Amino acid sequence: MKINEYLKQHEQKFIDELFAFLRIPSVSTNEAHNDDTRAAATFVADALTAVDATNVQIFETALHPVVYGDIIVDPAKPTVLVYGHYDVQPPDPLDLWHTGPFEPEIRNGNIYARGACDDKGQMYMHIKAIEAMRATGDIPVNIKFLFEGEEEMGSPNLETFVRTHKELLAADVVLISDTSMIANDIPSITAGLRGLSYIDVVVTGPNRDLHSGVYGGAVHNPIQVLADMISQLKDDKNRITIPGFYDDVVELHAEERMMLQRVPFDAAAYAKDLSVAALAPEEGYSAFEATRIRPSLDINGIWGGYTEAGAKTVLPSLASAKISMRLVPNQSSKKVTEQITTYLQSIAPPSVSVEVHYHHGGEPCVVPTNSLEYRAAAKAIKQTFGVEPIPDRCGGSIPIVALFQAQLGIDSILMGFGLDSDNIHSPNEKFGVWNYLKGIETIPWFYTYYGEMK
Ligand code: BES
Ligand code: MN
Ligand code: MN
Repeated sequence: MKINEYLKQHEQKFIDELFAFLRIPSVSTNEAHNDDTRAAATFVADALTAVDATNVQIFETALHPVVYGDIIVDPAKPTVLVYGHYDVQPPDPLDLWHTGPFEPEIRNGNIYARGACDDKGQMYMHIKAIEAMRATGDIPVNIKFLFEGEEEMGSPNLETFVRTHKELLAADVVLISDTSMIANDIPSITAGLRGLSYIDVVVTGPNRDLHSGVYGGAVHNPIQVLADMISQLKDDKNRITIPGFYDDVVELHAEERMMLQRVPFDAAAYAKDLSVAALAPEEGYSAFEATRIRPSLDINGIWGGYTEAGAKTVLPSLASAKISMRLVPNQSSKKVTEQITTYLQSIAPPSVSVEVHYHHGGEPCVVPTNSLEYRAAAKAIKQTFGVEPIPDRCGGSIPIVALFQAQLGIDSILMGFGLDSDNIHSPNEKFGVWNYLKGIETIPWFYTYYGEMK
């Protein structure tokens, strides 16, 4: 029996199983869901056991567990390390979901649920690919599975785990499905990801909230100061003004830039989909390039003063913002974080004090497109999609990719099957049933070609 036939016969079962996984609200950043997150780890371990993975273990970390399992067919054969994450983003704002975030439902050929695409649906494809391979033939390479439950909080404990389990995780290549492709008829392989630096800024003015009539006009308002400071982070060309910020940015060769321009992109349709009348890329770059090959800076949240209904005449003591920056090769998360901290301190007026708190970060990565594993992935996609995949870059971040490179010395293949329009981290996250099944169909071909070529 061929994999395709097995898939057809078991389609409903594969969907039902994924639904059971999606019903577990494994929100890693919310302590109230710690038991759920652990339940998701157990679900994953059981799913690995069910496809006869060996050595299945749930490793404790300082917070959410790591799930490991392997299939060693022949130590002389190459080994693929599959990485994914079973934790999900918080589902809020809840009122914008058409159906419950943890009550998966299919509408218009899409599975709607938090984690459907990022990353439960995509990581589960890898387990089902094993089931399909076992049922229809041999497994051509050794496979190790590493699934974590802290990706959405910046993988705080994974580095330690990887560093202390180098032998267990030893492999020739990492395979990850946690990114998107351009379109179902324009498959792509992610050849690079952006890095991340994330900070909180707290601007403190007077030692208490003040009456804005009694003190207004004399005392500098921290919200005003914060707004002024934020306005100094970019210029009118949408370039980031932090001194030294662009120093390490690698400009793409004209040739590479041309390659990316071959990717079909309709800026007008993109803007229309978001209901914005205009886009705002850095001058000299298209919106497409701006999310792929250029760094960016965003204010993720801002608050201070009185925000409830009605009016309160207050001159607040505090104002805060969350600011994140996406980084491209060769920028360093640590260096950029220092640069923005120094800059914010330097532009703060003497009327306030400014504190900067550092959150998780991560380094950018590039995946070589001339490697044997890249060619194996491209061939697998050609096989099941009927067209050659395009190497693309994704604007999101998976910090563990750079870490695998640094700690284990292995490159990753980012073979994702989602779409940018899948609303990951947003209300109504979805994953196409077609994409889910296509992933399960394609993954075995990667193992086949990788085994043949290596
Ligand atoms: N799967 C995403 C990253 C991603 C999404 C890459 C789409 C490419 C395309 C991942 O789960 C994620 O959300 N990462 C975080 C970073 C992390 C440190 C919290 C991100 O990019 O914000
Ligand atoms: Mn993800
Ligand atoms: Mn995510």
